[in-house]
Amino acid sequence: MIQRSSCLKTLIQSLRVTTPSSSPTKLAAYNCYTSQPASSLQEVSKPSASSPSNGDEYADVDWDNLGFGIMPTDYIYMMKSSEDGSFEKGQLNRYGNIELAPAAGVLNYGQGLYEGTKVYRKGDGRLLLFRPDQNAIRMKMGADRLCMPCPSIHQFVDAVKQVTLANKRWTPPPGKGTLYIRPLLMGSGPILGIAPAPEYTFLIYTSPVGNYFKEGFAPLNLYIEEEFHRASRGGAGGVKAITNYAPVLKPITRAKSRGFSDVLYLDSLHKKNLEEVSSCNIFLVKGNTISTPATSGTILQGITRRSIIEIASDQGYQVEERAVPVDELMDADEVFCTGTAVGVAPVGSITYQGKRIEYNIKAQSVSKELYDILEGIKTGLIEDKKGWVVEI
Ligand SMILES: Cc1ncc(COP(=O)(O)O)c(C=O)c1O
Repeated sequence: MIQRSSCLKTLIQSLRVTTPSSSPTKLAAYNCYTSQPASSLQEVSKPSASSPSNGDEYADVDWDNLGFGIMPTDYIYMMKSSEDGSFEKGQLNRYGNIELAPAAGVLNYGQGLYEGTKVYRKGDGRLLLFRPDQNAIRMKMGADRLCMPCPSIHQFVDAVKQVTLANKRWTPPPGKGTLYIRPLLMGSGPILGIAPAPEYTFLIYTSPVGNYFKEGFAPLNLYIEEEFHRASRGGAGGVKAITNYAPVLKPITRAKSRGFSDVLYLDSLHKKNLEEVSSCNIFLVKGNTISTPATSGTILQGITRRSIIEIASDQGYQVEERAVPVDELMDADEVFCTGTAVGVAPVGSITYQGKRIEYNIKAQSVSKELYDILEGIKTGLIEDKKGWVVEI
């Protein structure tokens, strides 16, 4: 048994990770770390057979009460860029805080991107990822917009697989939730004038999660915001820049305090067309036609959005990607949101200019039909004929 103090020293020196706070869950992860033999305290390049996460055991979590919150797991993945901007020598480190220069580009100028994907555990213990290459491609697009070098698609997917395996015991049992995977790319090098940072860090952490909205599967109540906008033309709304998210905190907080689930944004130029919700895309159903705002720079190209468009077309719906005027909400049969975190979430009401538009949620709705197919593919219950699922 190693001593906690020497363990800490090793951790700080070799991993440049600081002591986690003493919240119960963090402590649980930390204790797990201190009980490891010294050899396993070193940075590991891949999960070893003795890794606590390699078996089919489970972490000590109340799986029946998972929300969408952060729960530290065993490992994070980290990879830094070299001077020429290439990424190599990524590795798994024990979960913990990271060290950043005060002048890091990400802290001063918001030079950062994030991604989000989920791991599903099958009944036989296998782990399934959904289209992680699409997250890698989207990160590349974002990196280009924010002047950052980026790991290759292969490096990205490989890193996601490694960190998933290393944290396997934190992946909820089938039907109880998923292991949320959060890749980050940030300007970690110091820079004073406004310019791209001299060094970049690619990092992935994970957390077991349940439903994103407290409503669970209950319909969402959205509020259409006219004072604040999420993105404007020529900005970075079309990529997953971290700077897109702090500005929505105010409208979300205000909407939530008034009892709404989230905010639906309009185009900032005319305040006439629908854009998207703070963290998901939006669809309208009218008869056999499903419409969703076209992504032309201000709207994030959701991976769930693209998948639902394909599934809906396969099911015989006419899918239209176009400008969708806010007025169309008045006579839509159904409205639903899509996103990795929310899945396919039905909308029960939308409040616009003081009027509440209500939608009758039927048991056999279009959103439920599409949700069942998407979820079936993701969880391995429906055959994946599209090559979307990556098994690890
Ligand atoms: C602004 C925004 N729109 C849409 C989405 C949905 O994208 P995806 O389906 O890839 O999760 C997200 C989620 O990450 C988001 O942050």
